[in-house]
Formats: sequence, C-alpha cells, structure tokens
Amino acid sequence: MQLKFDWLIVLENLRRGIMVTDTTLEGPKSPRIIYVNAAWLKMTGYGRDEIANQTPRMLQGKHTDRSVVGSLKQKLLNREVFHGQTWNYRKSGEPFVMNWYCYAIYSERPKPTYYVAEQEDVTELETLRMKQRLLANPNDAEALQFFSVLDEWKAGRKKAA
Ligand SMILES: Cc1cc2nc3c(=O)[nH]c(=O)nc-3n(C[C@H](O)[C@H](O)[C@H](O)COP(=O)(O)O)c2cc1C
Repeated sequence: MQLKFDWLIVLENLRRGIMVTDTTLEGPKSPRIIYVNAAWLKMTGYGRDEIANQTPRMLQGKHTDRSVVGSLKQKLLNREVFHGQTWNYRKSGEPFVMNWYCYAIYSERPKPTYYVAEQEDVTELETLRMKQRLLANPNDAEALQFFSVLDEWKAGRKKAA
C-alpha cells in the first residue's frame, strides 16, 4: 500500500469541515486552532488568515448549548469520542446547526498529539425535521425555539438594511 501521497490535497477537498487543534483545554485561548480545511472556511465564511490564534469558541454565541460543549470537554478529558450538535455562528453572525465529531489523535500513546473535529452544517436537515415536528404538534417547544433562532437573525438583518 502506498502511504506517501499528497494528504493536504485530500484534506482540502473533503466534503466535511475539518478542524485540528492543539490539546490544551484550559484557558480562554485554548484549544488553539492549528488547521482548518477549505470546506470549513466555506461553511463558516472566515478567511484562512482570520483563524490564526483563535479557538473553536469563535463559533459560539447566544444560542450555543453550554451543556453540549461542556460534554465535549468531558469526553476529551475521558479520552472518549464526542458527537453532538448545537447552534454555532458564521462570520456574518448567521446561526447554523453544527453537527460534529471530536476526538484525540495520537502519534505516540498515551498523550494525544492533536484534537480533530469532523464538522457539518445540518441546518437544512434540521429545518425539515423541525417542520415535520410542527406539523405533528404545532406547540412543539423545541421546534418553535429552533425557528425563533433563525427568525431572530432574519429580523435583525432586515433592521440593519
Ligand atoms: C477540535 C475541536 C473542535 C471544536 N469544535 C467546536 C465547534 O465546532 N463548535 C463549538 O461550539 N465548539 C467546538 N469546540 C469546543 C470548544 O473549543 C471548547 O472546548 C468548549 O467550548 C468547552 O470549553 P469551555 O467550557 O472552556 O468553553 C471544539 C473543540 C475542539 C477541541
């Protein structure tokens, strides 16, 4: 099997967003982003030069679920794989539902070398799912909250225009 190939071209052309960070978890500047691929830049609207010295917390905002990101930290500390989703925000401020896996990568055990995340914008899928839930129950609190987050953003944009 050939192991020498242009892995950067492969990473840059994956359909999912990829983010690699260092393995520090404590402190406002941690973890530090080391690499994001082209799909990640497209999904978030940031330029490559804008992520230097940033942490993935740059994606968080008002409706980000603290219990989800708290569980990510706990999973990483327990050496487990995290999978979850919550509201994140593009550079423009637009909210979107980020669904992601996050786990440690080891070049030598037991200490992890990097944390890596496979990230996907699932807002469209969630919109369909929530619409169906509202059809079944117009008072579905979670679905109503979902659309209020998107509506709040749209109303804010109209005001600014
Ligand atoms: C590789 C990696 C990717 C992450 N990606 C995201 C993300 O896409 N969205 C998000 O809200 N938090 C993400 N986080 C979580 C935050 O960086 C942070 O760990 C989390 O908010 C918990 O820490 P805190 O309680 O100090 O904020 C990611 C963390 C790591 C290590």
